[in-house]
Amino acid sequence: MQKIILDNLEEIGQQTLEMLKGPIVALSGGSTYKALLRFWAAHEKVKSMSFFPVDERLVGFDEEGNNWRVAYDNFFVPAGIPEQKDHLATGAEQFEALLKEEVGDPIVIDQVFLGMGDDGHTASLFPGGEYLDDHEVAVLETTSPKPPFPRVSLGLKSIWAASELIVVIPGANKASLVQRLLDGDTSLPITLAVQGHPDPILFLDRAAAGE
Ligand code: 6PG
Repeated sequence: MQKIILDNLEEIGQQTLEMLKGPIVALSGGSTYKALLRFWAAHEKVKSMSFFPVDERLVGFDEEGNNWRVAYDNFFVPAGIPEQKDHLATGAEQFEALLKEEVGDPIVIDQVFLGMGDDGHTASLFPGGEYLDDHEVAVLETTSPKPPFPRVSLGLKSIWAASELIVVIPGANKASLVQRLLDGDTSLPITLAVQGHPDPILFLDRAAAGE
């Protein structure tokens, strides 16, 4: 795994933008990506790419917590690519069909961008989920321990198949989990996600790196 430590999320925003090439890109939700996507929005090259969610909270597009709504407001509209809204995921069957239509079967996404939650989850794959043992499922529905509960998510199979896997983790509150990830603690879904990929790239800010 390549580990890149930068001063802050702004620098991570710049570097991830430089490596952003698509053409098919899957984006995580949460506060990290809300901030990163704002860095990306001003750049012309995103207009030639196609964006899909890594995971989605199964609430309506206009409801609190919908990842694609956050991406729409903070990225697609300011970047002039509002049509990306059509890639909203509303359930496992629909999401899997949407991805297969775009990239074929098996699902191989050019660049998958992951984050890590404060329990070590990634995408909507949570610690203790039985589905973590199923390495053949491309897309699945899961239940979050925190609301909104119902989720749809790429499975490990699709994360591992990505041509590039990029993980972005900022913040001092994630430092002890980052250490567990680096120590190979496989009770954390994020560890499984990176261990199964041939060449993941991990971006940390200094705080998350414990510096
Ligand atoms: C989601 C995500 C999730 C996210 C992490 C980190 O929908 O919740 O895709 O996996 O990346 O929870 O979230 P923060 O950046 O808010 O800490």
